[in-house]
Amino acid sequence: MKIVIRNARVVTTDGSDPAARRGGEMSGLRVLPCARVWIKDGLIDSIDADPGEDSPEDWRDLDAAGRVVMPAFIDCHTHACFAGDRLDEWEMKRRGAAYLDILRAGGGIMSTVRAVRAASQEQLAELLLVRLTAMLNHGTGTAEVKSGYGLTTGDELKMLRAIRDAGALWPGTVVPTALLGHAIDPDQPDFVDRTIRETLPAVSAEFPGITIDAFCEAGAWTLADTLRLFERALELGHPLRVHADQFNSLGLIGHAARLGLRSIDHLEASDARALTELAASGAAGVVLPCCGLHVDGRYADARSLIDRGGAVAVATNFNPGSAPCYAVPMAVALAVRFNRLTPAEAITATTANAAAILDFTDRGRLEAGLRADIIMLRHRDERLLAHDFGDNPVDAVIVGGRIIRHA
Ligand code: NIG
Repeated sequence: MKIVIRNARVVTTDGSDPAARRGGEMSGLRVLPCARVWIKDGLIDSIDADPGEDSPEDWRDLDAAGRVVMPAFIDCHTHACFAGDRLDEWEMKRRGAAYLDILRAGGGIMSTVRAVRAASQEQLAELLLVRLTAMLNHGTGTAEVKSGYGLTTGDELKMLRAIRDAGALWPGTVVPTALLGHAIDPDQPDFVDRTIRETLPAVSAEFPGITIDAFCEAGAWTLADTLRLFERALELGHPLRVHADQFNSLGLIGHAARLGLRSIDHLEASDARALTELAASGAAGVVLPCCGLHVDGRYADARSLIDRGGAVAVATNFNPGSAPCYAVPMAVALAVRFNRLTPAEAITATTANAAAILDFTDRGRLEAGLRADIIMLRHRDERLLAHDFGDNPVDAVIVGGRIIRHA
């Protein structure tokens, strides 16, 4: 399919370096007020600053007059593969119960673990595909999806296979992550040792090079156990990401540079010193403001991290416990209000920087030769993406050069 988008306000992060933008670079957008984007063979063929009246006959024409065209979102932190719901626990939380107390009492993540263990690989894939479709309609062209609700070797592999299966049926790109250290399973004696000795090598054999993740938190994985898991994963050749400083700062950030962590996600409990250390570490910070909205009103201080020269991405964290939201536009609206990003930084955080964290060099920006993952907003000004909230601002979605949705 050959497509030309005409009359578009083209907005993309500036520069052709695929590395994450840090500090002041995050606000550098390149804006062409009235331009054409030519798409051929799944790629962006060229972009020209000419509105263009007529298109060549064999090109499908999309008129974007009065609308923003930008890279499709890359949602770099989700737990979208799950079964069941946590509605009863949510009501308990509304009455004052704390997230970590519910986890300690055997609920929370463990309640979703029970639902996932009871589901088949096919059921998990079907549930995930429905959610991925909703994500795509809201502009997500690439989604990271974590395991972590299986915890046994068999159930973690079942989740990762379901994520792979759903991804194969979805027009966008799914990036699976093995969240082997998500909780401490009370039903498995020596759970941490078993995860390191048995689950990690089994996952490594079937999914070589997959990113390994853990939840380093009081009541979940201790700092020492997280480091043991990560050191073994590094020996097996796996990149690392981590959930840290969500409720308690256990000191994981101090190890980010040595371990070469791709990202540290959450950071609601990080103080100024930790953010300074993170900014200098090379790891990006991923902030997850839907979690603050749903759990307890605490938000990571992404403003300080960027002001210290750090790289920030924003993601939905879509999951049934702490962030039941799959819409990146909502995460953007919250990140600007509560994590104190500017609208321009939030665009970089959900496109170019998210691509860098997932190690993509072929997407996240609009540039000739990159994959044509593109969205058209109904907005005339990109700041409205952050300003307006509560409905879907995405009028058209193109992934891999195919029009998937056009309102
Ligand atoms: O990133 N905090 C750990 N993991 C998820 C929540 C998962 C759940 O509650 O089911 C998060 O917020």
